[in-house]
Amino acid sequence: MMEHGGERYPHFPADVLRNLKHINIRHDDVIVSAFPKSGSHWVHEITRLLKLGRLDETNFEKNDVQLEYVPEATYAQNPSPRILSSHVNFRSLPTQVLEKKCKLIYILRNPKDIAVSFYNFCIKMRHLTGYKGTWASFLPMLTQGKLAFGSWFDYVLNWEKGKEMYPDLPVLTLFYEDLKEDTLCGVKKINDFLDLHRDDRFLQKVSDHVTFTNLKRIKGRNHLHDGQSVVFRKGEVGDWKNWFTVAQDEWFDQLYQEKMADCQLRFRYTLDDCN
Ligand code: A3P
Repeated sequence: MMEHGGERYPHFPADVLRNLKHINIRHDDVIVSAFPKSGSHWVHEITRLLKLGRLDETNFEKNDVQLEYVPEATYAQNPSPRILSSHVNFRSLPTQVLEKKCKLIYILRNPKDIAVSFYNFCIKMRHLTGYKGTWASFLPMLTQGKLAFGSWFDYVLNWEKGKEMYPDLPVLTLFYEDLKEDTLCGVKKINDFLDLHRDDRFLQKVSDHVTFTNLKRIKGRNHLHDGQSVVFRKGEVGDWKNWFTVAQDEWFDQLYQEKMADCQLRFRYTLDDCN
C-alpha cells in the first residue's frame, strides 16, 4: 500500500496519484465509481456496451481506464463519451469533475458481501496485496480503514456528503443487489441517465449478455489465481452468511449502527430484504 493526500491506495504509480486531482475531465465523461468489490467491473461493462451500441467481447475492463491507476495519457485520446472508472473517495475526485459536472454512476453494495469479496481478493492476490492473515483478522482491518482505499464507512459517508453538497452534479446511484435482482431495470436506468436512447431489444440483449457466467467467460481470464478468476468469484447476494460467525455479525451490526447512525441509506443483505 501507499499513502497519497491522506488516503491509502494499493501500490499504484506515484505520478498517477500525484496527477489525480489535476486530470483533464470532459463534460461528457462518465465515471463509474464504487468502493472496491461493489460490482464496478459489471457496471462498467454495461455502460461500455450501452455506449458502443452493440455487443462486444473485447477483453477490455474498467482497470484499463481507472483514474487513480492508469496514466492520463493512456485514455486522453479516447473518443467521447469516455467511460472511465474510479474507487476514490468523493473528496479525492479530480477537481474538474465538479467544474465540468460530468456524469457519475455510483454503485453501492452491502458491506458484509463487500468484506467477503475483498478478503478473497486480498488473499488470492497476496503477491500484490501482501495480505496473509485470516478472515477474523481481516474484518477489523477493513472496518478500521487499514487496507487500500480505507474504510468503507468513510467512503460511503463521504460520497453521501458530496452528493448532498453538490446537488447539481449528475449522479446515478445504483445498488448491486437491485442490479442482481433485476439487471434489465438497471440497464434501462443507465441508458436513460446517459440519454442514449437504445431500443428495448438492445437493452434486453445487454442485460442477457452481462450475466455473471458470461462476463466470467469473457473477462475471467484477466486476473487468475490457481486458474480461477479473482474478480468474478461468486457474484451473489448474501454469501456473507457463509463467512460471518454469529459473533462477527452482531459486532458488525453494532459498528454499523455507530458509524452510519445519520445515514439514510438502507442496504439489502439478502434478496428477500427490501430497502
Ligand atoms: P464476489 O467476490 O462476491 O463474487 P468489483 O468489480 O467492484 O471489483 O466487484 C467484484 C464483485 O462483483 C465480485 O463479487 C464479482 O463476482 C461481482 N460481479 C462481477 N460481475 C458480476 C455480474 N455480472 N453479476 C453479479 N456479480 C458480479
